[in-house]
Amino acid sequence: MALQQHIAAYGDKLLAAFFLLLLFLHLSHSSAHIEGASLPHMTSDASEIAGKSYDYIVVGGGTAGCPLAATLSEKYSVLVVERGGSPYGNPWITEKLFYGFSLLQTDEFTSVAQAFVTEDGVQCHRGRVLGGSTAINGGFYSRASGDFVRRVGWDEELVKEAYEWVESEVVSKPELTMWQAVVEFGLLEAGILPYNGFTWEHVEGTKIGGSTFDAWGKRHTSADLLQMGNPENITVLLNATVKSIIFNGSGDGNKTIARGITFISSSGDGNQTYDYEAYLNHHGGDVILSAGALGSPQILLLSGIGPETHLSQLGIPVVLNSSKVGHGMKDNPGIALLVDSKPESRFPDAPQVAGITKGFEFIVEGGILPVSFNTTRIPVAVKLAFPESKGKLELNTTDPRRNPVVSFNYLKKDRDMDQCVKMAQLLKRVAGSPSVAIFLGYVPQNKNFFLSSSDEEMREFCRKNVRTFYHYHGGCGVGSVVDEDYRVYGVDGLRVVDGSTFLESPGTNPMATLLMLGRYQGVEILRERGEVSY
Ligand SMILES: Cc1cc2nc3c(=O)[nH]c(=O)nc-3n(C[C@H](O)[C@H](O)[C@H](O)COP(=O)(O)OP(=O)(O)OC[C@H]3O[C@@H](n4cnc5c(N)ncnc54)[C@H](O)[C@@H]3O)c2cc1C
Ligand SMILES: *[C@@H]1O[C@H](CO)[C@@H](O)[C@H](O)[C@H]1NC(C)=O
Ligand SMILES: *[C@@H]1O[C@H](CO)[C@@H](O)[C@H](O)[C@H]1NC(C)=O
Ligand SMILES: *[C@@H]1O[C@H](CO)[C@@H](O)[C@H](O)[C@H]1NC(C)=O
Ligand SMILES: *[C@@H]1O[C@H](CO)[C@@H](O)[C@H](O)[C@H]1NC(C)=O
Ligand SMILES: *[C@@H]1O[C@H](CO)[C@@H](O)[C@H](O)[C@H]1NC(C)=O
Ligand SMILES: *[C@@H]1O[C@H](CO)[C@@H](O)[C@H](O)[C@H]1NC(C)=O
Ligand SMILES: *[C@@H]1O[C@H](CO)[C@@H](O)[C@H](O)[C@H]1NC(C)=O
Ligand SMILES: *[C@@H]1O[C@H](CO)[C@@H](O)[C@H](O)[C@H]1NC(C)=O
Repeated sequence: MALQQHIAAYGDKLLAAFFLLLLFLHLSHSSAHIEGASLPHMTSDASEIAGKSYDYIVVGGGTAGCPLAATLSEKYSVLVVERGGSPYGNPWITEKLFYGFSLLQTDEFTSVAQAFVTEDGVQCHRGRVLGGSTAINGGFYSRASGDFVRRVGWDEELVKEAYEWVESEVVSKPELTMWQAVVEFGLLEAGILPYNGFTWEHVEGTKIGGSTFDAWGKRHTSADLLQMGNPENITVLLNATVKSIIFNGSGDGNKTIARGITFISSSGDGNQTYDYEAYLNHHGGDVILSAGALGSPQILLLSGIGPETHLSQLGIPVVLNSSKVGHGMKDNPGIALLVDSKPESRFPDAPQVAGITKGFEFIVEGGILPVSFNTTRIPVAVKLAFPESKGKLELNTTDPRRNPVVSFNYLKKDRDMDQCVKMAQLLKRVAGSPSVAIFLGYVPQNKNFFLSSSDEEMREFCRKNVRTFYHYHGGCGVGSVVDEDYRVYGVDGLRVVDGSTFLESPGTNPMATLLMLGRYQGVEILRERGEVSY
């Protein structure tokens, strides 16, 4: 903190010099880390993988995909195919000081964060790098409530073990920054009680959560978990985008079986026509989609699994007429007060504290986000934990590198809008609390919010300002697209394990539960096959 104030006092030249120094130190540090050789073999050379066979193929080296691959590698050979590059050595990913920078500079095919705008007009991002969205997110780590775990029907003991497995490697107890301490006071002053101190658990009141940023300000992504299995039995193919699943036995009345994948090299020029293939060994393994809430339904559709009418529009041969693929897309609506930062609070700051209201209805957090490379803005933000509104996902093109078309229908259901009015009142209480108000000391960018008061004005505010907390889920829901074991209905050898399977988000921020889910489903598969006794 003292260092940060010092730098703030000297202005941008020193700041730039400092960042360069940091970058240099970081690069020298991170290459040492890779030479530690405990990470699996990583390659961007598609021809090295083409034509080879593996026991399991995990599509998407993201939040759920990496812990899943690590767990399966304890007994089997695993190929992980990730469309993005490596997170190691990229300071925008690894340094907390650069938190949010990756969202500032995006392009269509190669940036670490892929931007998309929903049909609702809301600006969103998703990770495109090994580590997935854990490489670009806020790092706030909080387990799901026991209530949520029971509702989903998971084994509570295994859930606990899987969370602990994740926490042992990538989660830290944070040292509160000044702004986070202010948020903590503000939440308590606004009456979000009791005070629970530091805890992983999702409990009512105000708490400090875990963080994937460690005490040295280094981010740990899900990719770090690849070291936890048998890295020698994992191959990570980077910069390769999966186009579709290869099936055997389709169209003759026999059950369709996944046999492998078709992929293209992501670093190609976009006009590339050459397709590569990789296969499953005939050992009873699976292709497992862990490509996220947008990626997994997109790949199913591209593979001919989805609503027949939609697939025909795009000329995709129908493998399975599965009407629910891409349905039930949800995102938690949020609203925020945004305040331009004063010079002394210009550094990005990831959320470390959360206010969880009675009945787990709303979550309040505060951060500091860059809006350019030298200016930041301070949001105080609230999200609705369990929205009812749903939308859908469809393809716009058969190019797997492009975003599918997504709508979430934010606040379309009356109940969600009524809840948003309550969120707005809560936001006023927190932002108007003595601690927060004194710290900010500035007029909020959307100051009319403070003057307006009628429910109708609040509705209008909600309609105009609804934003994402980046917690999208759905599209391959359990019970509609996959069964309780996360196997795709109607196809053998194919599973989906990631946020697309959630019918509702875990109430709290979902990263912890998706990391847990990867480990959990990996252990379940090993158990099913009699490979382990734990
Ligand atoms: C900006 C931001 C901030 C957030 N902050 C927090 C937070 O502080 N705390 C929290 O708990 N949650 C947070 N979240 C939400 C959380 O990070 C996500 O819900 C979670 O990481 C999603 O996990 P996933 O496994 O479903 O997908 P992802 O982690 O997104 O993984 C999907 C992977 O699949 C790859 N992929 C996709 N398509 C293909 C393809 N065709 N071929 C090959 N690979 C493919 C992608 O590149 C990616 O690596 C945030 C999210 C964002 C975007
Ligand atoms: C990798 O897994 C296979 C099972 O497919 C096993 O036979 C082999 O011994 C494993 N290799 C290593 C290095 O553990
Ligand atoms: C992989 O993709 C990343 C991100 O686009 C890029 O920086 C990197 O150079 C690529 N690597 C190779 C070997 O193509
Ligand atoms: C399809 O599956 C059958 C039965 O498992 C197998 O004999 C055959 O070799 C497979 N075909 C291909 C092309 O993999
Ligand atoms: C699978 O298809 C073959 C011919 O295509 C047929 O002979 C066989 O009976 C079918 N098996 C099942 C289980 O339907
Ligand atoms: C791809 O092809 C189109 C049309 O032929 C061309 O305009 C475009 O520049 C090409 N893109 C690249 C990256 O070469
Ligand atoms: C596909 O499924 C939908 C909904 O289940 C059904 O209405 C439609 O008739 C099916 N189409 C075909 C070709 O079977
Ligand atoms: C931020 O950087 C831009 C371009 O480098 C410069 O024009 C601007 O004055 C800077 N703003 C501040 C607040 O330092
Ligand atoms: C769909 O694709 C067309 C043509 O490529 C493009 O003009 C349009 O903007 C796309 N729509 C969306 C919602 O991405």
